[in-house]
Amino acid sequence: MEFRHVTDSALHAACDLLAFTTFGDPSKDATFKAIDHALGGGLRDAATAESFDGKPGQSLVFWTGGKLPAKRIAVIGLGARGEVEAPALRDAAASAAQIANRGGAVDVVYVMPNLGAAREARTIQATVEGVIGGTYRFGRYLTSDDAKKVPSLVLFGIAPDARGTKKPTAAQARAFDATVARGQAVGTAVCHARDMINEPAAAMTPIQMAHEAEALAKKHPELSVQVLNAKKCAELGMGMFLAVGQGSDQEPRLIHLTYKPKKKAKKRVALIGKGVTFDSGGYSLKPSASMEDMKIDMSGAAAVIASMQAIAMIGSDCEVHAVAACCENLVSGRAYKLGDVLKSMDGTTVEINNTDAEGRLTLGDAISYTRTKIQPDEMFDFATLTGACMVALGPFTAGVMSDHEPLVKGWLAAADRSGEEMWRLPLLPRLRDQLKSNIADMRNTGERYGGAITAGLFLKTFAKDTPWVHVDLAGPAAVSSPRPSQPRGGTGFAVATIVEYLTAH
Ligand code: BES
Ligand code: MN
Ligand code: ZN
Repeated sequence: MEFRHVTDSALHAACDLLAFTTFGDPSKDATFKAIDHALGGGLRDAATAESFDGKPGQSLVFWTGGKLPAKRIAVIGLGARGEVEAPALRDAAASAAQIANRGGAVDVVYVMPNLGAAREARTIQATVEGVIGGTYRFGRYLTSDDAKKVPSLVLFGIAPDARGTKKPTAAQARAFDATVARGQAVGTAVCHARDMINEPAAAMTPIQMAHEAEALAKKHPELSVQVLNAKKCAELGMGMFLAVGQGSDQEPRLIHLTYKPKKKAKKRVALIGKGVTFDSGGYSLKPSASMEDMKIDMSGAAAVIASMQAIAMIGSDCEVHAVAACCENLVSGRAYKLGDVLKSMDGTTVEINNTDAEGRLTLGDAISYTRTKIQPDEMFDFATLTGACMVALGPFTAGVMSDHEPLVKGWLAAADRSGEEMWRLPLLPRLRDQLKSNIADMRNTGERYGGAITAGLFLKTFAKDTPWVHVDLAGPAAVSSPRPSQPRGGTGFAVATIVEYLTAH
């Protein structure tokens, strides 16, 4: 699909579908009024008949009957102007693309909502991300002809305003192209993460995760990759990571992707992802209903790997490392057991009181690896770590934990700009007592209350003095209630914020 800049009046655009948004009441919208006038009042009548009042999620499709060069009109509700953020912008553009694909439209002109010049670039970026995210589907395993049908939409024109615009300067045209490219890079990375997450665990094994990273490194010269097998991890002393994977016939892999900027890097940033390709819970076995979706337990790893592609495409002035600790948590005669004492890469011994608290074990060693081998200025980890985080914040919001004020503020500011919902939880030192063990330096699980925080405190022991932020994305990694820009399944959560954090100027 191609994105183009529509610079003359969208009213004169000859296209299959002319789509635009309204902030609530359509009769107050200039574009709506202009198009309604051209259509002899038919659009307003249709809006009244369909009770269209511009709320988010509403849309109205209207055939122009030759009264306009466009064949059809789509009006999409955005809600009150003051409340419009990136997710609503993505949803609106996604709805336009979906209407186009349903109606067989090839050529769309989309009139962007006007949120003022200061927000124009963000609006363009969100629009492109929305179209790409909204036309995503995981169709590999569908066999009907209908499912195999290729979406029709090929050209998505973005018009800044329907009332006719001045010809853009060369600089404006370049800025538009750069913003579109940014949106395409993020959208592509988000869809790649979704593909990895949605793929069944039988196919998306740790080795396959490594192949995904290797393919990216092959495609982008700015990226290089190193994959550590079990033997190498054993040499490094990663006793916690290896214990989690030892019950599976799938070999574990520690994946390390590196992005190097052309000029001297401003700082070195590491992104660490939990890559449990299936979490059965181990001998602390999950009940079937809780296990059903556990192929998504590598969403953190998917996010950090996929983001590297967008970082390579857009470019960053940071040196960026993605470290994904990939393994499978199963039961077998070789699996780790409750009561086992594991030795971690940094020497800490850990008594296992719950084999289902496996993510913090894999991440603990991945953090030690990152801290000692990469020595980053900043590190972030992304993990579908605790159900408790979903209890605290609901299914759509990630929990963010850190003791480094400037770092966590910078991260949350990037999340705010990208429109991904994240909320800080405190790393309460008193809860650390829950991790005391009688026979080892600590145990891996605390009590029920404060479960997201004790998991964060466990990780903190391995982060030590390196500035670090922990992002628990157990909730938003996948959705069962879809929205236009986010179909059911893996969401690719955190990709947009990672890219925003590392490529914003
Ligand atoms: N992968 C799960 C957490 C999870 C739950 C992710 C639901 C996505 C949706 C994690 O490994 C886990 O099992 N956590 C336990 C921790 C507990 C044993 C301390 C949990 O949340 O129950
Ligand atoms: Mn688990
Ligand atoms: Zn898990």
